[in-house]
Amino acid sequence: MKLFFSILLIFVINTLHSQNIQSPSKNIELQFSVSNDGKPTYSISFKGKNIVKQSTLGMQLKEMPALESGFSIINTETKSVNEPWKPVLGEVAVIQNIYNQITYFLDQIETGRKMNVIFKIYDEGVAFRYEFPRQEKLNYFIISDEKTQFNLTGNHKTFWIPGDFDSQEYVYNETKISEIDNSKLDMNNGIALKSIKDNYRIQSPLMMKSTDGIYINIFEAAVVNYPIMHLNVLPNEFQFTSILVPNAIGNKAYLQTPAFSPWRTIMISDDARDIVASKMILNLNEPCKIEDTSFIKPMKYIGIWWEMHVGKATWDYTGSQTASTAQNKDLKPAVKHGATTENTKRYIDFAAKHGFDGVLVEGWNVGWEDWFGYGKEYVFDFITPYPDFNIQEIADYAKSKGIKMIMHHETSGSVANYERHLDRALNLMEKYGYPAAKSGYVGKIIPRGEYHDGQTMVNHYNFVAQRFADYKMMINSHESSRPTGYSRTYPNYLAAEAARGNEFNAWSNGNPPMHETILPFTRLLGGPMDYTPGIFEIKMSVYDSSKKEQVHTTLAKQLALFVTMYSPLQMAADLPENYEKYPDAFQFIKDVAVDWQDSKYLEAEPGDYITVARKEKNGERWFLGAITDENARKTEIKLDFLSPNKKYKATIYQDSKTADWKNNPISYEIKTIEVSNKSILKLNLKNGGGTAVSFEMK
Ligand code: NOJ
Ligand code: CA
Repeated sequence: MKLFFSILLIFVINTLHSQNIQSPSKNIELQFSVSNDGKPTYSISFKGKNIVKQSTLGMQLKEMPALESGFSIINTETKSVNEPWKPVLGEVAVIQNIYNQITYFLDQIETGRKMNVIFKIYDEGVAFRYEFPRQEKLNYFIISDEKTQFNLTGNHKTFWIPGDFDSQEYVYNETKISEIDNSKLDMNNGIALKSIKDNYRIQSPLMMKSTDGIYINIFEAAVVNYPIMHLNVLPNEFQFTSILVPNAIGNKAYLQTPAFSPWRTIMISDDARDIVASKMILNLNEPCKIEDTSFIKPMKYIGIWWEMHVGKATWDYTGSQTASTAQNKDLKPAVKHGATTENTKRYIDFAAKHGFDGVLVEGWNVGWEDWFGYGKEYVFDFITPYPDFNIQEIADYAKSKGIKMIMHHETSGSVANYERHLDRALNLMEKYGYPAAKSGYVGKIIPRGEYHDGQTMVNHYNFVAQRFADYKMMINSHESSRPTGYSRTYPNYLAAEAARGNEFNAWSNGNPPMHETILPFTRLLGGPMDYTPGIFEIKMSVYDSSKKEQVHTTLAKQLALFVTMYSPLQMAADLPENYEKYPDAFQFIKDVAVDWQDSKYLEAEPGDYITVARKEKNGERWFLGAITDENARKTEIKLDFLSPNKKYKATIYQDSKTADWKNNPISYEIKTIEVSNKSILKLNLKNGGGTAVSFEMK
């Protein structure tokens, strides 16, 4: 047996070191080999063209020899997989999951340790992960660096944000690879550059386009018990290398065999729509672990929230904390507490009247007086309401109106404190019938030295989703690490923020008009975002004539975002009194669905525009959203997605002829026409504008 095994070993070492494998369509081909000194390397081509040049793979370990060289391929295993699955909530009712897989079993001959590399080749990209099988010589170990290279073949256009280990709330920079440099960033971006010491460190997902029109996206999937991957850039060599987010003492990941790294993904297509429509990141995650998913429901909600962001109300009871006074203690104490029983009832009434599912209330609990910037470990207990928030009375009132209350758990970064209180907080939610919570991680993480994107915090966010599932509750996190498809495994993790949301338009220089055309190519690949669209009063001067801030879109584009930014949790973020001023436009928000049978990406170009049509689940209505960047855009859309031989009433919400995001943003027109699947719809999007359409079968 032993003799046979060593003969086999020699045989495979000689023959297996360069087996190529293709995607099901054969468009994408992976080459893998070990170099003369035993370094694992890979390269990728698309339609015969080299996209990723030979790039090395490897791990550096703490106080142990590296897993970088000296490897031989001792075996390979291939399989073809076709495993469609049904997401609990999603953009489509059935997700196709079709790929070819190859595993390279590697032995580091000198140390006798094993490390495998598993590749999955999809039609829209390649994913690979490191596997550390159970073995005596590699049991418990610490990763000090992951050295995964992505060597690209040209000076592509990129959409990048700086490699802040604590936040992704940045505007995207559109530059060539050779121009990536954090030192050139506008420091007045509305957020302090928190923990960026390196000019050449950026975040993934990284969206790119080559000069010959190939779209490339570097990201990761299934980050579980592992830190988030950022990228180090060698701008003139077009080279990216993984950087794992460290813990407080500089270690990256603590693992015990058997263990895996997350999947490293490289999506490639010559059609940008393939990237935004791809379900590769979700597919690479484990199937759903929640047995009874009946408690997981999509939600359209409003909230006591924008009032604080525009400075009309405060989170804290004493009336000193608006979004701007939190950062500047000299500003005069503001107005009044938002989360009162009376105000909450007003929102519940409005939600019930207009068919919303839920109401979020921020600032309901004790702690907001000194929640920000003090670095206090113990700020909130998540169970003690302010005296003017009668939680019992509100729970009863919401129930009587058929409205679900959404809990708010701002942790102010004090994660140990949140974990200590979590079960008590969940018990309170259960007692008062709250089915969902929004969490927040504003500020530096406590325990000190940990980053939002480190392994400990990744485990925390995942643990919270699991604990919420135990209580049959849903969660939406803000300021967490950006998701990597974990909502397949825990679909009660409804949404996350983890990018620069609409809120920045209230109190900073905001999100430029191209922002929402990039998010579907980056942040949204990992899972739904709580972007909070639907702001109608675009200019903040309505609240205070001295204010210069504004939303960087037209009103019609705010409507279209409900369709272009997929999420089963959608907030209509503006104030009830503002919606009452524009009841005809508000009708679209009332009508639009949040869970989908099907989605068709009709047009897409990162940084420029996106048009998508979606069909509601359990119904015949379709909704279309089209958005553009700062440039006006005319386009014609074939309505061939509609059912044949049927007539539809199309209600079109569009920019008026004179609309413009900066000078005339609230100017819109609404018209109704009859269409069929043979019709062509002419769209006329103004600068920073958009169009939203609902189609109802006649
Ligand atoms: C930041 C969140 O993104 C925002 O939605 C929330 O209102 C504040 N933190 C306070 O928790
Ligand atoms: Ca935020």
